[in-house]
Amino acid sequence: MQLCFTCIQLLLITFLTLTAGQKVETVPDSLQPLVGVWNQSVTLPCHISPPVSALTLHVRWYRVRYNEPVHLYRYMHDDFSAQDSVFRGRTSLFQEELEKGNVSLRLTKLRPSDSGVYRCFVEGDTWDDQWEIRLIIPVMGSQPTVSQDSTVQSRLLCRSEGWFPEPRVTWRDRRGREVMSYTTLDQNTQGLFRITSHIDVPRESDVFSCMVTAGEPHGESKLHIAEDLYPPVCGWKVLFFLTVTLSVIAVPLLFHAWWKLDKKCTYVANLVTDHLEKELAGLKQPIKSVAQLL
Ligand SMILES: *[C@@H]1O[C@H](CO)[C@@H](O)[C@H](O)[C@H]1NC(C)=O
Ligand SMILES: *[C@@H]1O[C@H](CO)[C@@H](O)[C@H](O)[C@H]1NC(C)=O
Repeated sequence: MQLCFTCIQLLLITFLTLTAGQKVETVPDSLQPLVGVWNQSVTLPCHISPPVSALTLHVRWYRVRYNEPVHLYRYMHDDFSAQDSVFRGRTSLFQEELEKGNVSLRLTKLRPSDSGVYRCFVEGDTWDDQWEIRLIIPVMGSQPTVSQDSTVQSRLLCRSEGWFPEPRVTWRDRRGREVMSYTTLDQNTQGLFRITSHIDVPRESDVFSCMVTAGEPHGESKLHIAEDLYPPVCGWKVLFFLTVTLSVIAVPLLFHAWWKLDKKCTYVANLVTDHLEKELAGLKQPIKSVAQLL
């Protein structure tokens, strides 16, 4: 009798030490986010280590709200009574894997809003543990559009929407150099981002690209080359007129020529006017000096 009591005690201690050391882990490393595809399925990995059967344990997958689980398994059944309605009919555990301690979750019909941190919480009689894994469902937004600001003529706007996760914008000039920009982001009800960005155009450059990217390192990107602000023919014409005008100082002729330039050139013409005014102001000094000499 005494012997048997000791052996029960021993068994109990062995059982406790064995099970108290259980941990919950994910493979691969959960520091790397898992990337899912919109409308497809994903398996969020999680297993007990060293392995014990999870058939009689509680397995709770949840995001932020513990009481509104993504999936709950307890008393040897899936329990959908408190499930977050967003996940209704879209989750399952691998029944045949449970006894190997594999409590991975299958999530189907992925939506962009499923992106986020998932917690795999396993509870035994004598231990519990949880692990986190991040899921991202990248969504590529619309082709960026580049346009001239209606109020500030020397400003270019780039717009694109429907991105997830947060997009970034990069502006480059013709030589591929990055141009400083000002960017704002907002999110629609589906959680998708809209990006609006602008640059102030320096005079000497002419072609700009606006590139929007999201979701490194599995990011998507789209490129848009801005409409040439200085159409070659127009630019050449202006340059021609500028040269002629400066050499003969025939300002009336220049104004006449501008009338003929098509509307696309108006912006260039404005820039040239500014430039010309400065040039003329610079010319006035020597002319004055010449006049004084005469
Ligand atoms: C996903 O499915 C929905 C509904 O069937 C559809 O409207 C949407 O375009 C799909 N999205 C993608 C990226 O395939
Ligand atoms: C758990 O089960 C899933 C589905 O069968 C499988 O993809 C995954 O590799 C398993 N994990 C481990 C650690 O065995």
